[in-house]
Amino acid sequence: MADAAREAAARLIAAGQAHLVAHAQGLGAGGPAFLAAAAAWPWEALSTAAQATAPARLELRPPRGLTWRRQVGEGGLRARLARLGLGLLAHGRVATLLLAGGQGTRLGHAGPKGTVELGPDPGRTLYRVHAERVLAARRRHARPLPAFVLVSPSTEAETRAAYAEAGDYGLRTPPPRILVQGVLPCLDREGRALLAGPGRLATAPDGHGGAFEALARAGVLEELVAQGVDVLTTLQVDNPLARPFDPVLLGWMVERRAQVVTKVVRRRDPAEPVGLLVRDVRGRHHVVEYSEVDPEAAAPLPYGSIAVHAFSTRWLLEQWAAGTRLPLHRALKTVEALGPDGRPAPVEGVKLERFLFDLFPHAERVEFHEVPREWEFAPIKTASGPDSLVRARLMVEAEVRRWHRERGLGEPEAPALRPLELDGAEPHDGPAPGAA
Ligand code: UTP
Repeated sequence: MADAAREAAARLIAAGQAHLVAHAQGLGAGGPAFLAAAAAWPWEALSTAAQATAPARLELRPPRGLTWRRQVGEGGLRARLARLGLGLLAHGRVATLLLAGGQGTRLGHAGPKGTVELGPDPGRTLYRVHAERVLAARRRHARPLPAFVLVSPSTEAETRAAYAEAGDYGLRTPPPRILVQGVLPCLDREGRALLAGPGRLATAPDGHGGAFEALARAGVLEELVAQGVDVLTTLQVDNPLARPFDPVLLGWMVERRAQVVTKVVRRRDPAEPVGLLVRDVRGRHHVVEYSEVDPEAAAPLPYGSIAVHAFSTRWLLEQWAAGTRLPLHRALKTVEALGPDGRPAPVEGVKLERFLFDLFPHAERVEFHEVPREWEFAPIKTASGPDSLVRARLMVEAEVRRWHRERGLGEPEAPALRPLELDGAEPHDGPAPGAA
């Protein structure tokens, strides 16, 4: 064995991954390259995270002192916020990032979730719906508001193909930019690396928090700051009601000189699987992953995150430059991997993920903006049930009908999901400059 391979093997053995060294010995000429690649991972940190139980860093309390609901409803504040947000949009100071790197295992759709068809027209996929909202905002504000799409190695090829085939869904000036997030190894419940095949580690996308690193490494944060884009919004591909350029959300950024503003809804029930808004012992508000909170402690928490965030681009860039990195969380999942007998099999394993909301504790000024869930939150997580495609279709249809009513246009023709109707403007948004 050459020196480099010997060193790599020693590192792996010291990190509790001796089975990878044994595996490399059966790979013949490919062994040293496999050892070198495997030894580059920080196994101690990964296996500690894989075996960690829920973090003890927060004492969970219901949120308090958040007055956004009353404020927004009263005294013209909503209109004022919308005006501030419209000001940002009118100067082209906002960009948006669609998070589409997840594997969508619960839904079981073949292909990236963005290729799920919402309808009613054939080919009207989630990618198209999100693009329609961006297009509508570009038209309305007469600005080339930049749009990015986060993919992972699990979704990249099919997403690129879908965008290419659809002519980027009409997003031409500028075209959408695809960013690729990283992956992390999958481990077994004892913290040992799993193999996907001979000479291949099992890996999975590094969570929606991987967006932070992907944006920074691609130089996007620097570019946006240099172009005078102050705010980046992020939304999830599986929520067709998510609004990429909501003036009220953006207005909070200006009003409070916030580094982060994020949308929350009243939880549907005490068991709803959404990020939970909690208060820590110092009175600061955070979002924590529902699967890390004991169900009894989670039950009385009234607000959930819908994962629509607005970030100051300058603040994100500063955080990256200052060395802020997001922590690892473990999710207990079935991983397709080589079983103990060396044959492919579903293994009860661990996927490691980073969460975008773990940036919040680094900010001095975070605002939580409550929105009506029926207007803004139609998550598509499972094939049936309350977070299903069928339910999301009904919610988007209800949105279109509401807009028709509010504009005095009467009832739209069924089915009420026609693309042109998704112009994204709410009555309280106020008129955009140049709008009729
Ligand atoms: P979820 O955590 O619901 O995961 O992602 P998922 O992949 O859609 O579904 P499951 O858990 O495997 O069933 C919420 C959003 O974050 C994005 C997803 O694409 C979705 O829009 N995401 C998730 C990423 O962009 N990257 C990731 O690594 C994970």
